[in-house]
This record gives sequence, C-alpha cells and structure tokens, in this order.
Amino acid sequence: MKTLIVYKSIHLGSTKKIAETIAKTLKADLKELNEIDPSKIVNYDQIGFGSGIYDGKFHQSILEVIDKLPNLKGKRVFVFSTAGVIYEKSHSIVKQKLKEKNAAIIDEFYCKGFNKNSFLKYLGGMNKGRPNEEDFIRVKTFANNLKNITIN
Ligand SMILES: Cc1cc2nc3c(=O)[nH]c(=O)nc-3n(C[C@H](O)[C@H](O)[C@H](O)COP(=O)(O)O)c2cc1C
Repeated sequence: MKTLIVYKSIHLGSTKKIAETIAKTLKADLKELNEIDPSKIVNYDQIGFGSGIYDGKFHQSILEVIDKLPNLKGKRVFVFSTAGVIYEKSHSIVKQKLKEKNAAIIDEFYCKGFNKNSFLKYLGGMNKGRPNEEDFIRVKTFANNLKNITIN
C-alpha cells in the first residue's frame, strides 16, 4: 500500500517528530505541507494528515489544502496531532473536510506536545519533553494497527 504523510508543524517541531515516526513505521513518503502537489495525492492509497493544534484546530493552511484536493473516494485517510491539551473537538474540522471529499477516515491519533505559546514561554512551557518515549511507542503501535483496518 502506497502511503503519504503530510504535516504542518510550525511551533516546536513536535508534530514533525510524530509524522517522521509514522512514516518510518509505515515506510511511507513524508512531506511538509508546502512540498506537496495536491493533484498527486490521488497516486496514494492511504494519506495521513498531521498538524499541531493552533487555536483549537489543525493549521489553517492544511485545512485550505484539503479543500483543494480532488475527490478522495476509496482513499484511506487518518489524522494525527500534537497539542497543549488533548481535546477531541480539535479534529472535528479536519475530519469534516475529509468526509466532504468522501475519504474513508480509518483512525486518528492525539499526542501532547511541548507548548511555549504566549505566556507559557515565561513559565518554562507546558508538556516539556513531549512527545516522549512513551508517546513514540504509542504512535508506532497506532501506525502498525492501521495495517489491520479494512474499508469497504
Ligand atoms: C499559535 C499557537 C496556538 C496554539 N493553540 C493551541 C490550542 O488552541 N490548544 C492546544 O491544546 N494547544 C495549542 N497550542 C499548542 C500546540 O498545539 C502544541 O505546542 C503543539 O505541540 C505544536 O505542534 P508543533 O510543535 O508541531 O507546531 C498552540 C500553539 C501555538 C504556537
């Protein structure tokens, strides 16, 4: 199965680390959002979209690229994020947009990420050291489990 991992990681690179681990586990192509050609996404069977959570959602630029994608019917997609606080609603918009493209959303992964946004930088940040070794084990398990998920 041909897999592409696309990510946006603008703060401290936490989502990039998670994206790299998923790509390595799945032997997938890995691209930062600006490197992708949206028209070539259809060459993949499975696409993982990852982002830090900024103001409660995926980075606006990844949401805008998803809007421009061709129809994803028959494509397996999954989403993953790192955030200061894990909050299921932070995936709502991206999942809605992928559903509008008729993609099959097979799974999602949440992880805490180091956060020095705003006043937190004066306090040494939040979630220092995250993602940590346990998170990397968890994400490897997540990636390996994707192989067992079938779509109709
Ligand atoms: C501008 C900005 C806005 C953020 N907004 C949120 C937020 O709404 N909720 C949250 O849990 N974390 C928020 N964070 C923390 C990030 O989600 C967290 O640090 C994440 O790991 C960043 O990923 P990255 O290092 O890959 O960019 C925000 C961080 C920044 C820089």
